Amino acid sequence: MRKNIVAGNWKMNMTLQDGQALVSEIVNMVQDETTGSAVEVVIAPPFPLLPIIWRMLPEGGRLHLGAQNCHQKENGAFTGEVSAKLLASVGTEYVILGHSERRQYFGEDDELLSQKLKAALAAGLKPIFCVGESLDTRESGDTFKYIESQLKNGLFHLSNEEFEQVVVAYEPIWAIGTGKTATSQQAQEVHAFIREQIARAYDAEAAMNTTILYGGSANAQNARELFSQPDVDGGLIGGASLKSRDFTDIIKSF
Ligand code: G3H
Repeated sequence: MRKNIVAGNWKMNMTLQDGQALVSEIVNMVQDETTGSAVEVVIAPPFPLLPIIWRMLPEGGRLHLGAQNCHQKENGAFTGEVSAKLLASVGTEYVILGHSERRQYFGEDDELLSQKLKAALAAGLKPIFCVGESLDTRESGDTFKYIESQLKNGLFHLSNEEFEQVVVAYEPIWAIGTGKTATSQQAQEVHAFIREQIARAYDAEAAMNTTILYGGSANAQNARELFSQPDVDGGLIGGASLKSRDFTDIIKSF
């Protein structure tokens, strides 16, 4: 079901101590805030912090745990990897898949991402599936074609029931960590396009019910404008999720 979500992707930042301090500040601020109460909040720290943070999140509250990746196999001899099943067993509800950093630095392609999606869903995790174009693609006018192919080849092989569990995140690569946010109009136009593609691949109801997040230099200053767009249902936040005040200000932007 479509909902508003603000997810903090910590990427490869934080220590145990920093992470615990940040989460306890977020828990206090989110509990105190009366505004932004219709927003589900996801915190996606690096793997070792997951079970520790899980225990810090009030049960039944609106703070949820996410992971930044999972392996495509259920288990086995894959040194250094983490299974979706293990993630679920330490309280993880969401998993980010297809992030452009994973695609670029770790060679994750549509085929591998399809397998990861299946593994995540089989373990009961909700995937946050990322798509987004590079600056070259945008400048050559191929943004829609590119996003369409990422959706078709990476995501739309899922059944209707499986797809219901998926959150989509639009993250233009040129906006990630650059301080150069997409304008609310640019974000809206791609989000509307994604929803249209979902309607084509599944049906209008599926399209209406899908949560589509924007990611890429979103911050406390621009979140309100971005979230006011009809097809922007929240944000996948990198840098600004590492400071409790910034992150809670973004949550309050709804
Ligand atoms: O997953 C988060 C995105 O990559 C956005 O990162 O907010 O630091 O630009 P950013």
